[in-house]
Amino acid sequence: MQTTANATLIAALPNPVLLLDKTGHVKEANPAATDLFGAQIMGAQIRAHLRQPAVAAMLERVLDGTREDTATFIATSGSRETVWRVTARHAKPHMLVLSLSDISDIEAAEAQRRDFVANVSHELRSPLTVLAGFIETLRGPAGEDAATRAEFLAIMTEQAERMTGLVSDLLSLSRVEAVEKIRPRTPVSIDMVLKATLAALRPQIEAAEIELGYSVPETLPDIPGDYDQLVQVFHNLIENGLKYGGAGGKLEITARYVAALPGFESGVLRVSIRDFGDGIDPIYIPRLTERFYRVDKARSRDSGGTGLGLAIVKHILSRHRGRLIIRSAPGEGASFEAVLPACTPSVKGLPK
Ligand SMILES: Nc1ncnc2c1ncn2[C@@H]1O[C@H](COP(=O)(O)OP(=O)(O)O)[C@@H](O)[C@H]1O
Ligand SMILES: [Mg+2]
Repeated sequence: MQTTANATLIAALPNPVLLLDKTGHVKEANPAATDLFGAQIMGAQIRAHLRQPAVAAMLERVLDGTREDTATFIATSGSRETVWRVTARHAKPHMLVLSLSDISDIEAAEAQRRDFVANVSHELRSPLTVLAGFIETLRGPAGEDAATRAEFLAIMTEQAERMTGLVSDLLSLSRVEAVEKIRPRTPVSIDMVLKATLAALRPQIEAAEIELGYSVPETLPDIPGDYDQLVQVFHNLIENGLKYGGAGGKLEITARYVAALPGFESGVLRVSIRDFGDGIDPIYIPRLTERFYRVDKARSRDSGGTGLGLAIVKHILSRHRGRLIIRSAPGEGASFEAVLPACTPSVKGLPK
């Protein structure tokens, strides 16, 4: 009678729950637990199923006493791993309750945070090492020579700029993430955004000696957007086109309105930045928007790259409920297309 009541009760719990007797035999398991361990867990000795050292040691500590404890258990199904926190609590009479909660997401976020901190530290350390080295050299006899001093100071300035660039990209990223859930609603003209971006990039465009194609109809609808962030998106994309695709001699900027696109509730603007440079091997494309990911690290660094540009682009587009579509093949250049929902009467507060 008691057992049935327990079974009914734990069957309603979403997390895996096992009821054990004092010898470690499983008396009850709810469906979430049999999903995880298989139906044969019923009646089995728990020690035979939870054999990972951390959990096994925890079971020994709790089974012969009154203590309560937790341990982490990693379940593997196929190629997928899930991480569970196993909590053991005593219940009267003579019963041990094991409950499991899935902490895979927390673990993954934690690992991502650790990676991020390691990456930032690494990126800052190399220019700092260079700076410290040059300061040391300038303090010695080499510092007496005006030409050497000028040469070293130029390198030091470059390294300091690299650090400034990194810090400012990191700040952008964290600012964008802070507001990512708040969709912007001010109508913004994409033509104005692109023209402002091109004006700011004028020196780089001239230095790259490329032919610039610009095809943005004046009749395009506005988009509900954040003007400064949109400038940042196209600044990063056009700058990349110049840096990595400039050798192709041509950059094409086009924008068009598409009334219907799968995955979007209403019309969108498709704004594409296309270059004719070396292009990107498709195997790298899915990783381009990862923080600090660069196909050619040395080349990106030499041109002052941080590997954060496309990560910022992705977050800003996601805030705008948009999407980034990257198409490229080696030798055929690359196109980076921002898809952005356009203003419609249904977007609150916006006149059509
Ligand atoms: N138009 C492009 N053509 C070829 N490769 C590109 C292009 N745009 C971006 N990439 C690759 O994607 C990487 C990541 O870009 P990004 O996030 O802007 O970082 P960064 O420019 O600071 O290196 C670049 O290092 C480069 O390898
Ligand atoms: Mg970039």
